[in-house]
Amino acid sequence: MTTVLITGTSSGIGRATVERLARRPDLTVYATARNVAAIADLAATGARLLPLDVTDAASMAAAVATVEAAHGQIDVLVNNAGYGEYGPIETADLDRVRTQFETNVFGLARLTQLVLPGMRRAGRGRIVNVSSMGGRIVFPVGGYYHASKYAVEAISDALRQEVRPFGIQVAVVEPGLIRTRFGATVARSLGSGSDVNDPYRDLVAAVDRTMTASYANPLLATTPDRVARVIERAVTARRPRTRYLVTLAAQGMVHTRRLLGARMFDLVNRLQFR
Ligand SMILES: NC(=O)c1ccc[n+]([C@@H]2O[C@H](COP(=O)([O-])OP(=O)(O)OC[C@H]3O[C@@H](n4cnc5c(N)ncnc54)[C@H](OP(=O)(O)O)[C@@H]3O)[C@@H](O)[C@H]2O)c1
Repeated sequence: MTTVLITGTSSGIGRATVERLARRPDLTVYATARNVAAIADLAATGARLLPLDVTDAASMAAAVATVEAAHGQIDVLVNNAGYGEYGPIETADLDRVRTQFETNVFGLARLTQLVLPGMRRAGRGRIVNVSSMGGRIVFPVGGYYHASKYAVEAISDALRQEVRPFGIQVAVVEPGLIRTRFGATVARSLGSGSDVNDPYRDLVAAVDRTMTASYANPLLATTPDRVARVIERAVTARRPRTRYLVTLAAQGMVHTRRLLGARMFDLVNRLQFR
């Protein structure tokens, strides 16, 4: 039996992943959330529930200790919790940006540090990090969110090489546009756009508009279960890939960026965010 712990399962990709993985007879799934009441219904899937806030060191340590006491080790950690704090580089509130990094980067890093000793002792284990296509390409107004996902990519690349001798594997899942609470959280972080003196007002409004339209476009955006299926593969494959870029549209955008180079991609974005 393989023990899997997943962060951020109250909604979206994390919740869909629990719903998919908990059905499997070969996995014991620990669904976690900072407010465990928000995932009470997931008990019906067979998943076990634990409180876990990735910005709270004690909560992370307690969750890891609970699973290790029951199973000896965590076999697979899925670092999924995360969100987008958007805003122009010049005007974004850096305290809010720091808080986002605490969740998207340092939470992932600390939880990884906490599970690795158990995995090394067992001589096996797997870490699946949910990054983003935004860890490969950058759009204006998303800079600080992209920075957090580029950090996840770099940490994952280093980690993969460091832990390989201990029998531990690392995979990165990079979703494109997925219909979850993510889009609404981003829109909230952009604010009302009512400040007429904001020099970035038009750009922010254009990004907001384009994102809303893109999430509503079935050719560009898809359901969280589409990512959950890929996470299932990353969790269960004998030899997981280093990266899984999810959705054709995301693959298209990442490859376009590589082919076009920075200046041409900027131009495409300028046309897109007019
Ligand atoms: N949706 C997309 O288009 C998209 C694209 C690329 C990558 N992603 C990535 O996919 C992951 C999941 O996002 P989602 O799309 O499923 O969005 P979501 O529906 O907003 O889910 C985010 C989850 O993260 C949890 N979370 C936030 N802060 C946390 C903390 N401090 N401790 C523990 N959990 C915390 C939230 O829990 P609460 O209910 O407690 O807030 C929620 O369960 C994120 O890493 C995101 O960056 C999403």
